[in-house]
Amino acid sequence: MMKHTSCIARIIVLILCMFTPGLALSADETQPPGNKTVIPVSSLDLNQMSLTFIPGVPMKRPLRIQGQNFADGIWMCAHGFLHIQLDGHGSKFTAKVGIDDSIPLHMTDMKQAAVVFYVQGDGRDLWKSPVMTPDSPPLPVSVDISGINKLVLLALPINRNYAANIADWAEAQLETDGYQPKAVSPEREAGEILTPAPPQAPRINAPRIYGARPGHPFQFLLPVSGERPMQYKAKGLPKGLALDAATGVISGTAPKAGAYKVKIIAKNSLGKDSNTLRVVIGDTISLTPPMGFNDWYSYGMEVNEDDMLNCARAMIDSGMSQYGYSYIGIDDAWMVKPGQDYEVLADDSHYADPKTFKEMMNTTYKLVPGEAEPGHGKPRDEQGRINSNPKFPDMKAMTDQIHAMGLKAGIYSSPGPITCAGFVGSYLYEDQDAQRFAEWGFDLLKYDWCYYGWRWAPELPSSDQMKEPFIRMNEALKKQPRDILFNLCQYGLGDIWEWGEPVGGHSWRTGNDIGAVITGNSYYSNMVSVALSENGLDKWAGPGHWNDPDYLLIGKRFNVSPNEAYSYMSFWSLLCAPLIYSGRMDQLDEFTLNVLCNSEVLEVNQDPLGQQAKVIKREDYRCVLAKDMEDGSTAVGLFNIGEFETTVRINWKDLGFKGPMKVRDLWRQQDLGVFEHEFEKTVPRHGVFLLRLSPASSSDKKE
Ligand code: GLA
Repeated sequence: MMKHTSCIARIIVLILCMFTPGLALSADETQPPGNKTVIPVSSLDLNQMSLTFIPGVPMKRPLRIQGQNFADGIWMCAHGFLHIQLDGHGSKFTAKVGIDDSIPLHMTDMKQAAVVFYVQGDGRDLWKSPVMTPDSPPLPVSVDISGINKLVLLALPINRNYAANIADWAEAQLETDGYQPKAVSPEREAGEILTPAPPQAPRINAPRIYGARPGHPFQFLLPVSGERPMQYKAKGLPKGLALDAATGVISGTAPKAGAYKVKIIAKNSLGKDSNTLRVVIGDTISLTPPMGFNDWYSYGMEVNEDDMLNCARAMIDSGMSQYGYSYIGIDDAWMVKPGQDYEVLADDSHYADPKTFKEMMNTTYKLVPGEAEPGHGKPRDEQGRINSNPKFPDMKAMTDQIHAMGLKAGIYSSPGPITCAGFVGSYLYEDQDAQRFAEWGFDLLKYDWCYYGWRWAPELPSSDQMKEPFIRMNEALKKQPRDILFNLCQYGLGDIWEWGEPVGGHSWRTGNDIGAVITGNSYYSNMVSVALSENGLDKWAGPGHWNDPDYLLIGKRFNVSPNEAYSYMSFWSLLCAPLIYSGRMDQLDEFTLNVLCNSEVLEVNQDPLGQQAKVIKREDYRCVLAKDMEDGSTAVGLFNIGEFETTVRINWKDLGFKGPMKVRDLWRQQDLGVFEHEFEKTVPRHGVFLLRLSPASSSDKKE
């Protein structure tokens, strides 16, 4: 599955593969200890490097900075880092750093690159570059590394367009006393569960606001944690809706447009909790970011109906549904894989510039969807209705079972004739597919660009051409008698945030696949790059329309350390990102479950104001993000995206506060006291402190 990448990513990989590495001196050819030796960094095991996927194949190849060629060196797409073990045997590190200009990337404005390079040793900066852009000439680095045990080469992006940040370390060399340096994986800290054990008495969690369209089927599972059995009561439910007192599912038909305040009471043998649920009936749905599961990174091409149902059961049994997780989404590969001979036969006259699938295949993109999957049968029936493949024998029966658990079901398609993985897409069949998805009972459609670009290849689509397929599918979805969240996925092309909402999107991906990694250490780099690339996009997000930095990839299968997992979830919460977990639901370990289900952290994500965080302060690897909450408080994340522990500080004046503030640590769910002017914490490598600040009253005790 990891081999599978998005369409753009594949194109880039193809371009990159055209270059073959030219090595100078290999690590194995070094001289015995005692003699001064010069070792090219390119000869180390670069699989230990962490780097942002686009376009970052760890490369030891000829590089070019400002037109100057270098036969040797390494490059990493920032955010990227490489840890090198020297054990005190080094004397000098030399290189020339700069932004590579040899690879014009498809659909990326390479002029926007901006990177700061760091050479670090044993927990401190030894050298740091100014901001390097494509206009910067190669900058020579020569650093004394005597006595250093661990050397780190770090490249940090400081712009939004991370794909352009190809950071070259040209002619990077280590001088040692003959010792053979090793590229190593950074040490992984022990995972501490910070989320306190939830009370066994009932607790009503977020979301506390829910939207639906009038006259459509309504279903909402109350997110209540605590010991089962639980009993539920609701006061003020509008006509047409009823609560199941034993399961906590509110269902029925959404009433006429209006805002309804419903008092919810949850009771078990240990106590009770009550709170208000705001039910808002109108045209806007997805009032808070969607939460749930998508199978892509856990089952991928192998997914079947049983997997989906098992995941749904696991969402209930693990307790995740008690914290608001509700969507169970099938990704690619549920439909028929027709192979290269597939011909789209439908009437294509409703497109301005129709092209048959075969014509598209003959364009300069030579990526092909592979062979037909034996036993899959026909992609569509005689009426043109899409078929599921034999692994999904009865879609309606499956969604019925998912709904019976109080959960919701998601499906996937592409505006192109085939999906990224070569299965049948919705091109020319949008109306029929939308109808089919609604009849099958789906509540969410992920619509993934994939091969749609073939319609214009080798040219790039204009912005109107990019919008066209989403507008078309949105119109088709709007005709259906059920609420279907429309999840746009086209990796942030064409600044989609600026037009995602008008074309009907409830969310849109802002970057490439975080899970498309090429070295064992890349998840964190991908995650940080995409998260920080969302800075400034807050104005495009809000209730009903969200920036989507991609799935939550923490837990087993993903090389994400405990600190990184806390950072991941904190970024996603502050950014109002859809919280869609894509690890194995049936293999959730306790640590991961606790990261996913901290009620106070989730409140930040699900806050009804829907205000996405901004980066308030950035000093090297210290980043502070802040987000206003509906109750007047502010959620603040102190992040360390660097390679060693450091202090991150925030002044109240940077946040616009005048008086003393009460500070609460959200991961530990603990009050830290009242602070007059500022707050600071030592934050571990790749770690975070997530806080909620509120103005202190005169009775609050000061620190
Ligand atoms: C693209 C998307 C992924 C996933 C795959 C499926 O790469 O970005 O999220 O849906 O396609 O093929």
